[in-house]
Amino acid sequence: MRTVKQIITGQPTTDGAGVELTRIIGQPALPMLDPFLLLDVFRSDDPRDYIAGFPPHPHRGFETVTYLLAGKMRHQDNAGHEGVIESGDIQWMTAGKGIVHSEMPEQENGLLEGFQLWVNLPASHKMSEPVYQEISKEQIPVEVRDGNVKVRVIAGVTSLGTHGPVMQPLTEPLYLDVSMPDNGTFTESIPATHNAFIYLIEGGVALGKNHQESLKPRELAVLSQGNDVVISSTKAQTRFLLIAGKPLQEPVARGGPFVMNTDDEVRQAFADYRNNNF
Ligand code: CO
Repeated sequence: MRTVKQIITGQPTTDGAGVELTRIIGQPALPMLDPFLLLDVFRSDDPRDYIAGFPPHPHRGFETVTYLLAGKMRHQDNAGHEGVIESGDIQWMTAGKGIVHSEMPEQENGLLEGFQLWVNLPASHKMSEPVYQEISKEQIPVEVRDGNVKVRVIAGVTSLGTHGPVMQPLTEPLYLDVSMPDNGTFTESIPATHNAFIYLIEGGVALGKNHQESLKPRELAVLSQGNDVVISSTKAQTRFLLIAGKPLQEPVARGGPFVMNTDDEVRQAFADYRNNNF
C-alpha cells in the first residue's frame, strides 16, 4: 500500500514575461521527483497575472505537458507548428533536441487555470526529433466508477483497463484527473517501479491505511513506494491529479530551459540556441 511520504506546498514564482504561478516540483522542498522535473500550477482570473504569457523560449532534453482546466493558450513554435490549447485539452510536447516556442493566453479576461509538468527524457532520447501529442478534451476517456467517481485518463492504463491517449513508453506515465463526491473511495494500482504523487485541486482527501494523512487544496503528496493507493474524499466536489512515472535514474544537469545529463551538454544547448541551431 502506498502512503504519504511528503506533503509539499507550492512556492509563488514569476516566469515567462511575468506570469504569476505556483511551483510545486522544481523548488527547494522538492527539486524533482524522477522522472518529473517541474510542476507549475497557474490559476487566476486577474489578467495582470497571466496576460504577458511566455514569449519565445527554447527547450531541450525533456517533455513539457500542458493541461488546461480553464481558459485558452495559443502555442506556436519555430517549425511552424501552431494551435490553441483549450479548457480540458492536453498538449504533450516532446522537445527532444530542441524547440523554440511561445505559449500565450488566448484571452484578455476570465479565469486561466492549468498545469505544466516537465517529464525527463533518457540520455538515449534527449536529442530526438520533437514530437507533439495534442489531445482535445473529447479524446480523453472518462471512466465512471461506483459512487460516481470520474476518472479522466490522459496517460497510462487504469486498473479497470481504460487507456489514455498519450503514449510515452520511455517513462510509462500515468496521468489521471479524478473527480468524486463526498465520502467516495478511489483505489488504483500503480506499478511498484514508479514514483507517484497526487495534487489536490479542490475538496479534501484522506490517504493511508487508516486515512491518517489528509491533504488540503493546492497541496501535493509524494506517495511512498508500493502498489495500490486508496484515496477517500472528505469533501464534496473533490478533484485531484494522480500522476506517476518510471524513474530514469540518470544524472540530471539543469540549465534553465535545458535539462541534460552533464553540464557540458547544457553549455552546448545554450551555444546551439545562440547560434540558431534549434
Ligand atoms: Co515552454
